[in-house]
Amino acid sequence: MYRIFSAIAPRYDFLNTALSFRQDKYWRRFTVEKTGLLPGGYGLDVCCGTGMLAIEHAKMVGPTGKVVGLDFCAAMLAKAKENIARTPYQNNIELTQGNALNLPFAKACFDSATIGFALRNVPDLRQTILEMKRVVRPGGKVVSLELSRPSKVGFKQAYFFYFNFLVPVLGFLVSGVKGPYSYLPASLKNFPPKKEISNIFQKVGLTGVTYYELTGGIVTVHVGTVPKNKNLK
Ligand SMILES: C[S@@+](CC[C@H](N)C(=O)[O-])C[C@H]1O[C@@H](n2cnc3c(N)ncnc32)[C@H](O)[C@@H]1O
Repeated sequence: MYRIFSAIAPRYDFLNTALSFRQDKYWRRFTVEKTGLLPGGYGLDVCCGTGMLAIEHAKMVGPTGKVVGLDFCAAMLAKAKENIARTPYQNNIELTQGNALNLPFAKACFDSATIGFALRNVPDLRQTILEMKRVVRPGGKVVSLELSRPSKVGFKQAYFFYFNFLVPVLGFLVSGVKGPYSYLPASLKNFPPKKEISNIFQKVGLTGVTYYELTGGIVTVHVGTVPKNKNLK
């Protein structure tokens, strides 16, 4: 997995935006809005990749707020550093190398935690959500933005043709690397449906769990709240 992400890091942002027809910008904005972060807040983005979601957080928390982006892949973090250097948020975003399954942060220290396009990639989805819940303060939000399967007849078939056949070819042509963009459709096939993700959010003890399907259901944003009494299950 680490090798896959190192290989795609240089062309990742370009491909994301091109293959999603720029919808990725809207998805990230929506996701960060759902964190409920306020100016001066303290947000975490787990599996931050090239930092695009962390940059979106920084816009929300403003000059007095702070954002931490965590990823295990050095090449992704290097790209994030470059991206952040081109924004006015260098002093507000801190990048750190670490594992989503064992976050190197104290409990309840963040106002919210997000994860974008990465629950599909971590080896233990439940443990990752549990860790995100642990480091968020009571009342704060845990939010996941992830690819999902659309259900509308007609749109579904067209989308799967695009996603299963065209995306691997276009991904290969632009990145020059074959494996990662063929892995993409496979990773979605093995990923639990939206309702099951909601159940996992609930089972780890998040409350008020809800989800939003965007762009015809090709991505879904799950949101849960850390209970005021953290012992509540
Ligand atoms: C598809 S990219 C998503 C990047 C970014 N969140 C975005 O919205 O574009 C998945 C990211 O998850 C990271 N990742 C995968 N497993 C991880 C783990 N166990 N701990 C930390 N980062 C991980 C990868 O290095 C990669 O940067």
